[in-house]
Amino acid sequence: MSGKEQAGTLTKIPTHVAIIMDGNGRWAAKRGLPRLAGHRAGTENLRRIIRASVEFGVKYLTIYAFSTENWGRPQEEIEGLLNILEDVIDRELNELHQQGVQLRHIGHLDRLPLSLQEKVKDAVALTRNNDRLVLNVAFNYGGRDEIVCAIKEMIRAGVSADEVTPELVSRYLFTAGLPDPDLIIRTSGELRVSNFLIWQGAYAEWYFTPIFWPDFDRDEYYKALVEYGRRDRRYGRISTGDSACE
Ligand code: IPE
Ligand code: IPE
Ligand code: MG
Repeated sequence: MSGKEQAGTLTKIPTHVAIIMDGNGRWAAKRGLPRLAGHRAGTENLRRIIRASVEFGVKYLTIYAFSTENWGRPQEEIEGLLNILEDVIDRELNELHQQGVQLRHIGHLDRLPLSLQEKVKDAVALTRNNDRLVLNVAFNYGGRDEIVCAIKEMIRAGVSADEVTPELVSRYLFTAGLPDPDLIIRTSGELRVSNFLIWQGAYAEWYFTPIFWPDFDRDEYYKALVEYGRRDRRYGRISTGDSACE
């Protein structure tokens, strides 16, 4: 029995896991390395987590790779992050496709270099019929930006005030057609949302860990899923156990 099985059993698997992959910079600083080395290590880790998602039976994995606020970082780091995204597509796309992973993107592509925009679109098109795991990459994504875009689109489409419902708004978001996240994980000890899935995460369960993203391995992921299995998702009602006692 390995460490992860001792952590407990998986009683309930979330359909959709979303991750704020945070702490790459601090992981690197702790080792006296440049921040980009942390981002590279974080990208390597992503492979493990994708594989583990397939193994655990998670159907949707959304990863926060670059926020609308991250444009405020030094130019060198931004360019490094764009290069890493391009490298990942070049190196990993075939394997992801073979594993049955469907790639999707949420956010805006228009601020990215044209060649990268094309690569992302091609990768999405190539993998569109895969159904083992949907890997949804949030790159140049911000929750407020997403909601503002949805409002603009609704106005352009001539939607009337009476037609606006939560379901309709959901259909105008980048995540249209995807289920809401059941579990949102944030690594690195920060306890905030940072503009991630602010609409979709309305009833997500949150899991925070102090571990930096490059060290968040399969066993740590397993622990998060065990913890998720213990949660009682009440959605404002009383727990199923309590209602049986009425
Ligand atoms: C998360 O790691 C990755 C991105 C935001 C792109 P950070 O780069 O935020 O790492 P810390 O938080 O500075 O350690
Ligand atoms: C959130 O992390 C964005 C990503 C992980 C891509 P940040 O490190 O950018 O968030 P803040 O600045 O700590 O809120
Ligand atoms: Mg950070």
